Amino acid sequence: MTARATYPFAGKTILITGGAGDIGQATARRFAADGAAVVLLDLNEVKLAEVKCELEANQIPVATFCCDVTSPLDVANAFAGAIERFKRLDYVFNNAGYQGLFVRTDEYPEDDFEKVININVTGVYRVLKVAAQHMRTVGGGSIVNMASYAGVIGPPNMLAYSASKFAVIGITKTAAKDLAPYQIRVNALSPSLIGPGSLWTRQTKLQAGAQSQYYDTDPKVVEQQMLSSVPMRRLGSLAEVANGVAFLMSDEACYITGFNLEITGGQ
Ligand SMILES: NC(=O)c1ccc[n+]([C@@H]2O[C@H](COP(=O)([O-])OP(=O)(O)OC[C@H]3O[C@@H](n4cnc5c(N)ncnc54)[C@H](O)[C@@H]3O)[C@@H](O)[C@H]2O)c1
Repeated sequence: MTARATYPFAGKTILITGGAGDIGQATARRFAADGAAVVLLDLNEVKLAEVKCELEANQIPVATFCCDVTSPLDVANAFAGAIERFKRLDYVFNNAGYQGLFVRTDEYPEDDFEKVININVTGVYRVLKVAAQHMRTVGGGSIVNMASYAGVIGPPNMLAYSASKFAVIGITKTAAKDLAPYQIRVNALSPSLIGPGSLWTRQTKLQAGAQSQYYDTDPKVVEQQMLSSVPMRRLGSLAEVANGVAFLMSDEACYITGFNLEITGGQ
């Protein structure tokens, strides 16, 4: 434990929503490796318990909370529990998200549109607000909101998701201005095609089934079609996303706020 004091995030605590998912887990490992204590919030209790076990086995201070970001009570309780345990949250990674269905605009179902907006926009707002209230009381902090390259370009068949991630970038820019006087930085991250992972597998399969003019009906062909639009001609890795979060949170980015960091491009 003594050696951890020399690490870049030693003495800091990060709270991650969607902490049991692919990117949440990768980011938790990244920050833990650099000395941070980790708080993970997610709907998925089973996966949360697995990550907790893994981190504790490596002597990482960790707390997990089963939390639905669409529930104000869940969010308030999880933050209260985290603050009780670690006293101060230095970083909040507002990362929980749902990709939505892959359906052409004229047929996109209203209930799924609402679900996507509720998790990806209202959930992000809710976590951001509670995080900002806490950070004001402790003199500052850094927040990264998970957007997506879909919130920059608007890919086909992803109406709700695209709308939600454009909204996250807007939320980030306004929040950055509102919170700068309190030494709270707010940035967004917009990964494009990241994998291997559950969302990459899901999106190639669902795009293949969406009967659109843009993609083949074979998911393997869709993978190649998507990758051919990426300048680097490969998927971004989970570790590369975590590195982006780490940079935006770090003191090296101490003058960066209201920024949307795009990772890999393409689509
Ligand atoms: N993987 C990618 O290619 C990619 C690209 C761009 C953006 N993103 C964004 O990154 C974030 C994480 O994605 P991922 O790839 O790790 O996906 P994932 O599905 O592995 O993880 C998402 C996590 O969010 C949790 N979650 C969903 N709804 C929730 C809710 N209401 N309350 C609390 N937790 C909830 C899920 O249980 C899951 O553990 C998402 O916001 C996603 O939109 C991912």
